[in-house]
Amino acid sequence: MAGHLGKGEETLETIVKSKAPDLGIPPGACVIEGSLDPCTILIFGASGDLTARKLVPALYNLYLNDGLPKPCLIVGCARKKWTRSDFQGRMENAIKKAGNMDTSKWPSFAASLYFHPLEYDSPQSFKKLADFLRDIDKKGSTGGNRIFYLAIPPFLYKATAQMLGRAGLSVKSARGNGWSRIVVEKPFGRDLKTAIDLNQTLHESFQENQIYRIDHYLAKETVQNMMIFRFGNTIFEPIWNREYIDYVGIIAAETLGVEHRAGYYEQAGVLRDMFQNHMMQLLALTAMEPPSLFEADRVRDEKVKVFRSLKPLANTGQEENLILGQYASGTIDGKKVPGYRDESGVNPESLTPTFAMMRVFIDNWRWRGVPFYMVSGKRLPKKLTEIVIQFRGVPHSMFRTILGEHIMANQLILGVQPDERITLTFQTKNPGATFCLRSVTMDFNYYQNYSGPILDAYEKVLLDCIQGDHLLFWRQDGVELCWSFLSPILEQCETCPERAEQLHLYESGTWGPQATQAWMRQITGSRLR
Ligand code: BG6
Repeated sequence: MAGHLGKGEETLETIVKSKAPDLGIPPGACVIEGSLDPCTILIFGASGDLTARKLVPALYNLYLNDGLPKPCLIVGCARKKWTRSDFQGRMENAIKKAGNMDTSKWPSFAASLYFHPLEYDSPQSFKKLADFLRDIDKKGSTGGNRIFYLAIPPFLYKATAQMLGRAGLSVKSARGNGWSRIVVEKPFGRDLKTAIDLNQTLHESFQENQIYRIDHYLAKETVQNMMIFRFGNTIFEPIWNREYIDYVGIIAAETLGVEHRAGYYEQAGVLRDMFQNHMMQLLALTAMEPPSLFEADRVRDEKVKVFRSLKPLANTGQEENLILGQYASGTIDGKKVPGYRDESGVNPESLTPTFAMMRVFIDNWRWRGVPFYMVSGKRLPKKLTEIVIQFRGVPHSMFRTILGEHIMANQLILGVQPDERITLTFQTKNPGATFCLRSVTMDFNYYQNYSGPILDAYEKVLLDCIQGDHLLFWRQDGVELCWSFLSPILEQCETCPERAEQLHLYESGTWGPQATQAWMRQITGSRLR
C-alpha cells in the first residue's frame, strides 16, 4: 500500500498528500514519499470499457495530483487499427465523461499517450511491440521499466503472458537496469484447477514478485482503514472475538444489473464475480490476526490463515448456508428495469445467480461458532457495501424490572460505500424524569477534517504497482485457498438436479429473495427499509 505507517507524525497512509492544513502542508502542495521510477504503462485492452471508465481516468487523476513518475508513458494496445490521435481523442472523451477533465493540463498528459495495434495471438505482433517499446523507451528515458496491465478478456491472459515472455518483454532488461511487472485483473481462473493453470503459465515468463493480481476492493479507503481501526487502537481488539461478537454481516449491494457484460457474467455468476475475491478479502480483513508488521507478506500471511480456517460448506444442507437468487424485472430509482433473463446476451432460461447469501464459519480459537453472513447481489434497492459487527447483549440485565429483558446490543458498522464511515450504536437514557432507554449512534465520517485529494481504488492500485508494493494485491496461495473453498460449492450448485428450484427469483429493487429476508433483517435491522 502506498505510504507506509510509522513515518513520524504523518501517518495518513496515502502517498499523495496535499491541502491538509491540519498537518501544516500548504494548500495545493503535493508530498510524495520517495521518488517513483520512470516507467511505461502498457494497457492491453485499450479499446475496452475498463480502460475508458477506470484506468485512464485514474492515471489522469494521478497526473493532476503529481502522483505519476516523471516521465511516465502510457501505451494503449488493442486489435483496433487506431492511430495515436484516435486513442488520445477517445481518452479525452472518457476523461470528460468521468468528470475530472482539467483542460489546461490535458495537452501535457495527452503527449504521454501512445497507441500500438496488437494481435494477441501473433508472435510477430509482439515482436513489433518490443521494437516499438525500445524506441519510445529511448525517447522517453523510462529506463526500460514497464507495467503490462491485462485489461483484456480472461481467456487471453495465458496467451498474452506467453507472448510477452517469448518477445523477451517479461524479463528484467538484459542490462539489468529495468523492471517489468504484469497486472492481472480478476477473475483469476474460474475454479481451483484453472487458477493453478493460469498461475503456472504466468510463472513460465514472470517471477512471483513481478505478478500483481488485482482486487480493487482492497484499495477502497475504508477497507484499508479496517487494519488501522482494528490494530491502531487498543479498545477494539480485546472484544474482537467470539466472547463479545454475536455475528458479522458483510454486505455488498448494487443497483446495477449485468449491464453489457452478459458474456462474462453468464459464466461467472455472483459467486465467482464477487465472492471469490472482494467478499473474501472483506472477510479476511475482518477476521485476521494482527500481522507482526504492516508489510505485504506479513499481512497476506494472516489473511491466508483465515482462508485456511474456513469451515467447508459444500455438502451441508445447502439452503441452511447458501441462498442463491436471480433478479426478475422491477423498479430501481423509479425506473422500470428488465429481469436478468431479458437482458441482452443472457440465455432466457439462464440459471446464473445474481444474488447470494452465504453463512460461513471460521474454525479457529477466535471465531469458532460465530456466523459470518456474506450477502451480495445486483439490482438491489441501493448501492451499499458495509461490514456489520453485531456484539452480544449484556450478560445480565439489571434494568429488567423497568425495561424488560430486551436491551439492544451494540452494533458497529464499517461503511465502505457510498459513505465511508464508522458508526457505533449504544444505549443511553432518554433525558427526563422517566427511565427510558434509547439507542444512539456515534458517527464518524472518514473524510471529516480532511480536504486533500481523494484517490480512488484504481489510482491506488496503479500507484502501488508503480512502487512495486504488493500489499493491495492477492498472493497465489490466497487465490487457491479461496477457490478450494468455493469450487466444491460451485460444483454442487451447478450440478444439482434441483438447481432451478434452488434459484430464488427476486424483484429488482427489493432486498433479495423472500427466503433471505429473516437473515437480512437480522443483519441490517431496520436500516435497509
Ligand atoms: C466488479 C464486479 O469486480 O466489482 C462487478 O465484476 C461489480 O460485477 C463491481 O459490479 C463492484 O465494484 P464497486 O467498486 O462498484 O463496488
